[in-house]
Amino acid sequence: MSNLLIPPNHRILLIDDNPAIHEDYRKIFRTVALDNASPLHAAEAALFGDVKKAAECAAFEIVSAFQGQEALGKVREALRAARPFAMAFIDMRMPPGWDGLETTLRLWEVCPDLQVVICTAYSDYSWEEMLARLGRTDRLVLLKKPFDNLEVLQLAHALTEKWRLGQEALAQTEELGWRVVERTRELQDANEKLQEEMAERARVEEAFRQAQKMEAIGQLAGGVAHDFNNILSVIRGHASLLMNEEHLSVASLESVRELDSAAERAATLTRQLLTFSRKQVMQPECLEVNGAVQDVTKLLRRLLGEDIALEIEAGEGVPEIRADRGMIEQMLINLAVNARDAMANGGRLLVRTEAVELDTESARRDARRRAGRFACLSVIDSGCGIAPETMPHLFEPFFTTKEVGKGTGLGLATVYGIAKQHEGWVEVESKPGQGAAFKVFLPESAKPVEDAPRHGEPARPRGGKETILLVEDDAALRHVLQLVLQTYGYRILVASSGVEALQIWPEHAEEIDVLVTDMVMPDGMSGRELIARLKAQKPGLRVILCSGYSRDLLRADARLDEELNFLPKPYTPVKLANAVRKCLDGRAVPRALSATAPV
Ligand SMILES: Nc1ncnc2c1ncn2[C@@H]1O[C@H](COP(=O)(O)OP(=O)(O)OP(=O)(O)O)[C@@H](O)[C@H]1O
Ligand SMILES: [Mg+2]
Repeated sequence: MSNLLIPPNHRILLIDDNPAIHEDYRKIFRTVALDNASPLHAAEAALFGDVKKAAECAAFEIVSAFQGQEALGKVREALRAARPFAMAFIDMRMPPGWDGLETTLRLWEVCPDLQVVICTAYSDYSWEEMLARLGRTDRLVLLKKPFDNLEVLQLAHALTEKWRLGQEALAQTEELGWRVVERTRELQDANEKLQEEMAERARVEEAFRQAQKMEAIGQLAGGVAHDFNNILSVIRGHASLLMNEEHLSVASLESVRELDSAAERAATLTRQLLTFSRKQVMQPECLEVNGAVQDVTKLLRRLLGEDIALEIEAGEGVPEIRADRGMIEQMLINLAVNARDAMANGGRLLVRTEAVELDTESARRDARRRAGRFACLSVIDSGCGIAPETMPHLFEPFFTTKEVGKGTGLGLATVYGIAKQHEGWVEVESKPGQGAAFKVFLPESAKPVEDAPRHGEPARPRGGKETILLVEDDAALRHVLQLVLQTYGYRILVASSGVEALQIWPEHAEEIDVLVTDMVMPDGMSGRELIARLKAQKPGLRVILCSGYSRDLLRADARLDEELNFLPKPYTPVKLANAVRKCLDGRAVPRALSATAPV
């Protein structure tokens, strides 16, 4: 196992009060040293199986001591000099000092490995008595005087070799011990790494499950919202027709207004759901985040009230982002309102912007993260904080801890959807009683986007005599749209699908001034495709594309196609009339009509 080798140690300590005995010993050992061929060496060879080695080892070094105390001093000195004795010959009777047993005990105290030969002429003690005093016999030999020279030499050889082997075994055990320690540490390290990897895997899996759950909820919410849009458009359309009736009683008018405002609230919910499911059409511009925060500060102060101190910390070098201004403002407002609700007794709200650079390592540790440069928008409050069991549900639509009527649970779902649609994400840190910090990461804009001009919208748009081809698959909605547009004086042709529109087209191609079409329709032809087919035949045809959301638009990254006039659902008749008029007058439908603006 080991190539450790303890060199032979032939240092012998001789302890006897009689100087003549020292002389005798020296003679014995000198004989050996001088005469390699002596009969003793034959005995060595027999004992150790190697004559040559035995002869080489024969140079014993003898140190004399005449009393036990003196011997102890020499043993200590030898240890200090790192030249320990391998063995000692100790006389049993050494007046006036310690006897052989006492000396042995004292020497073992400082040098436990010392091999001891006790020499005695008398039976001073029985072997049992000696055992009782010394305890251990594995380092002890008893030699009766007068001794035989050969016997002494054999003992010297055997015991010094025993000492060496003992040391070697000790060193090997020690080394083994170190190896065990080292290996244990390696195993511990490997184990820690494994634990870390398992924890990371669990985190990634959890994040994946969470993302899947949100995706599924998003699809469901988006689908529901889409259908609701049509229904709400019908309700609001009819409400608007009724409100224009001249002979309506005051009570009926009031009822219709209530109807309309309820439908409006429902439309707001629908819009939030669409935002959550990222099916809201986005109108990106190159946005300076500090400026956007500045713009809503006044509104935030009003929202927060007097008991909450608002602090703005605008970071330096915050990258510009490609974003929908309305959506970013919405996000800030939702987060601030939540913070306000979490600080019923007042507190402090910090809105901070900063530039954040994430490397691949930090992206690897958190499944939501991505490497790159980001504008980080933090909303940090000193409120009640969030319970750990609430955390996994925060962003789910309709999850709320607020009492009925106080919260719909769409605020954070909207924030989540907006961040996602901007190719970013939201991180939350919070502990109960210690406030909450929401951090929204939005990627640096890759290329500048031209700002779109903003227009207002007249309250009562002008009508006209033009002809509109209205394509909408929902019969109720088609009907109300037709009625509404007719009240503005337009002539309306209707079709329930793209295929039907194509059938009507040849006969009326000349008269049709504007096409108003839904995006998603049955019979396998989308609004987009219909537009393309009709424009091929009449390039000057004006078009308005309506949709609650559109898979086509989504495929085009849910961003507005600049050439198209897009009208998001649900819309009020006024908005539709406005869109038609502006389109006919050759202007783009203003961005104020975007889905993020109030309906
Ligand atoms: N800053 C915050 N501190 C403590 N809890 C929060 C904070 N923000 C959100 N929450 C918790 O998350 C839940 C969901 O928030 P979310 O904004 O989605 O819905 P809501 O505020 O309850 O309702 P809504 O925003 O639709 O009016 C809240 O009910 C609240 O329990
Ligand atoms: Mg909220």
